[in-house]
Amino acid sequence: MEALISEQSLQTRIGDMAWEIDRYYKRQEWYRNTQEPVVVIGVLTGAIFFMADLVRKLSIHTKLDYLRISNWSYSMSPKISSLPFTKLCNAHILLIEDILDTGETLRKIHRELYWEKPSSMKTCVLLRKPDKAPADIVVDFVGFDIPDEFVVGYGLDHKGRYREMPYVAVWSEEDEQRTSKNEVDRDKSFHCG
Ligand code: IMP
Ligand code: MG
Repeated sequence: MEALISEQSLQTRIGDMAWEIDRYYKRQEWYRNTQEPVVVIGVLTGAIFFMADLVRKLSIHTKLDYLRISNWSYSMSPKISSLPFTKLCNAHILLIEDILDTGETLRKIHRELYWEKPSSMKTCVLLRKPDKAPADIVVDFVGFDIPDEFVVGYGLDHKGRYREMPYVAVWSEEDEQRTSKNEVDRDKSFHCG
C-alpha cells in the first residue's frame, strides 16, 4: 500500500503539534499557577500510536486515560462502552482521536464528557476529512487535512487490520478485492479437526 502520509511526516507533524499544545497550556493562567496535570484521554483503539507518540513529545504535566467507543455501522449512532477511570469533574481534558470523518463519534464523546463537568476540554485529532467534517464539531488541534478517502495504518484499521503500519495509506478498491480473495481462499483451505 502506498503511503499517503509517511512515517517521517507523521513524526515531524506530531512534534509540531506537541509544541502547539505545550504552548497553549503554558499560556493558561490555571496551568501557570497550579501546574495541574492535563488529563489526556485517548479514544481506543485508533488513537493508541498517535497518543503514545504525542504525549512523549509534550513537556506539560499529564495524566493518561482512555475511553472506548464502538461504531457498529454507519447507520447506528456510536456507543461508549468504557469511560475513563480518572475523575473528570473540574479536570482539564485533552481528548485524542485518530480521525474526524462525519463527526458523529466526537459529538457523542463531547456530550458524554461534558456531563462530567470538566473545567475545560480541548480536542486533538491526527486526521480530518474537511469535506465531510461538520462545522459544529470543534477540534482545537489538527494534524493533517486529508481527502475524503478511506485510510488505514498508524492505528486506523480496515476490519481490524493494518493498525500496526507505521504510516497512513489510502485503502483502495484493489486492496479490497485482494483481501476478500485471500479470505475466501483461507476459508476454503481451513478444516477443523
Ligand atoms: P466519524 O464518527 O464519522 O467522525 O468517524 C470517526 C471514527 O470512524 C473514527 O474514530 C474511526 O474509527 C472511523 N473512521 C472514519 N474514517 C475512517 C478511515 O478513513 N479509516 C479508518 N477508520 C475511519
Ligand atoms: Mg476512532
